[in-house]
Amino acid sequence: MARVSTTVLPNAGASNGSATRALLCTEDITAPIARTLFFMADDLLPWITNPEQRRPLLSGKTLAAAFYENSTRTRLSFTLAAQYLGMQTVDLSVATSSVQKGETLEDTLLTLAALGVNAVALRHGENTIHTDVALPVLAAKNVLLLNAGAGNHEHPTQALLDAYTLYRTFDGKLSGKTLCMAGDIAHSRVARSNAQLLNALGVKVTIAAPACWHPNTNTDNAFAHAQLTESLAEGLANADAVMALRIQHERHSNTEIDVNVAHYQINHGALEKWAPNCKAVLHPGPMNRDVEISSALADDPNISCIPQQVTHGVAIRMALLLWGFGLDTVPA
Ligand code: CP
Repeated sequence: MARVSTTVLPNAGASNGSATRALLCTEDITAPIARTLFFMADDLLPWITNPEQRRPLLSGKTLAAAFYENSTRTRLSFTLAAQYLGMQTVDLSVATSSVQKGETLEDTLLTLAALGVNAVALRHGENTIHTDVALPVLAAKNVLLLNAGAGNHEHPTQALLDAYTLYRTFDGKLSGKTLCMAGDIAHSRVARSNAQLLNALGVKVTIAAPACWHPNTNTDNAFAHAQLTESLAEGLANADAVMALRIQHERHSNTEIDVNVAHYQINHGALEKWAPNCKAVLHPGPMNRDVEISSALADDPNISCIPQQVTHGVAIRMALLLWGFGLDTVPA
């Protein structure tokens, strides 16, 4: 797959208000970049609940949310993050747009640039379309491109907010911790992006899933450092944190093997038996209650970090917008 660095635009390094970076691939998020974004998110987190703290640092700029696949969390959190920084926001609303009349992605992105949009959060069903199609169009117009999810391949901002949730849970000490991801890993861009970023941050990843939902490690090295098992008990052993992942029905073929999902459900019983030291339960959402995660565990404020993940998503995306326009700290 063709890959482009996070710093790609012609005016890279400038902080004159033009886009200087792009976030396309989780693999491009180095540990120093992640730490920079976490520090910025720490400063920005209070802005979410305290409107009087907000400052229009990106006033005069416009973000377009261009989502070719459904979304609640990512689309709304990008939108709110931009608004909390003083940006204007527009939603492409793909289902009612001229995409339905056959307009190409290139032409839609050129139209957004011509409308004066300065940043695009793009979600698309094709794995490499951000790098292959969107970046060349938007970079030429100095428009910031942020990957808001690509096929079953990339969800870098979700990986960032998940890692940030672990970072806050474990007081900044991620190295040496173990996260178990359980469920439909093979079809999950969240699992793939998390495996990559957490490895860069020194977190050990175990995968508990039936064999048909194991990632193909022969063709994809994103999970090269993860420990794969079909046993939930084995996957949960020594876990400091657990992430449940939903079944990605929309990405299954007709020949998909029937799986007894109950064997992989994350619930209080499984944690008590196999992961007594687990401090945090995560789920990227949307969740199917009492399928991959028990409703009681999802709602247990003593261990469930699911609401915090959503809030952290806003702070991380605020940090990312500032970073995309050339800032590595939140100006005082
Ligand atoms: N986690 C996530 O990407 O959720 P949405 O599909 O609702 O954005």
